[in-house]
Amino acid sequence: MSLQPIGIFDSGIGGLTVFRELRRRLPGETLLYLGDTARVPYGTKSAETVHRFSREAVEFLLARNVRLIVVACNTVSAVALEKLQTEFSVPLVGVVIPGARGAVRKTKNRKIGVIGTEGTIRSGAYEREIKKLNPAAEVTSTACPLFVPFVEEGWLEGEATRLVADRYLTSLKKTGIDTLILGCTHYPLLKPVIQEALPNIVLVDSAEETATQVAPMLKPETGEKGEELFFVTDTPERFRRVGEIFLGRGLKNVTHVEI
Ligand code: DGL
Repeated sequence: MSLQPIGIFDSGIGGLTVFRELRRRLPGETLLYLGDTARVPYGTKSAETVHRFSREAVEFLLARNVRLIVVACNTVSAVALEKLQTEFSVPLVGVVIPGARGAVRKTKNRKIGVIGTEGTIRSGAYEREIKKLNPAAEVTSTACPLFVPFVEEGWLEGEATRLVADRYLTSLKKTGIDTLILGCTHYPLLKPVIQEALPNIVLVDSAEETATQVAPMLKPETGEKGEELFFVTDTPERFRRVGEIFLGRGLKNVTHVEI
């Protein structure tokens, strides 16, 4: 008998980095992805608004009988997840705690940088989780809002992207961090440019860390290749086109929904 599906929720398209890592580790699971493409970005919105939107997303996925929801969006994980966990009984796993754990495990000098959206950085969520794990850690955080449109434009490298990366990351470099959390769904696609701006600094991909944490919680199905269904709140065309940049392959089964 087939198990209930896994839900993945993001403000838009970026959560496909988490989807990709989950799919790699759980080839037999049915994955339902919901991207709130009509209301993206969440990174610039208030915590109250992000919470309200996220509740609707969780309700949508629950109506489709998911047994666990991965909150792929860093902003939602940072500003709304704790509240959502008190409101719903389905297991809700965010990306902030796995990312913080990864960084604490990898740092040698206990100086950790965090980059993310305005909302994520303003919330201080990564810093709080890091300090819970190691109170002696020093955390420096910077919002890098322009990275999101750059990735969605497919500008993963090139002069303009390098300039923006240098501008955002130079001050972080001066703090002596040895580890940097990529605290936004889109940033893993910019790894080469970020690494070039910060040579010798260990990059922690919160998408990878989350998938590594979630995979053992599930009893993977064997044999059959798992189904994948994508739901978006705006028309599917852009999601299909930009989604290819994230997954490196075409996306089938993209449906427009109202939530
Ligand atoms: N998914 C968001 C995040 O990881 C980035 C895009 C947005 O601002 O909604 O924080």
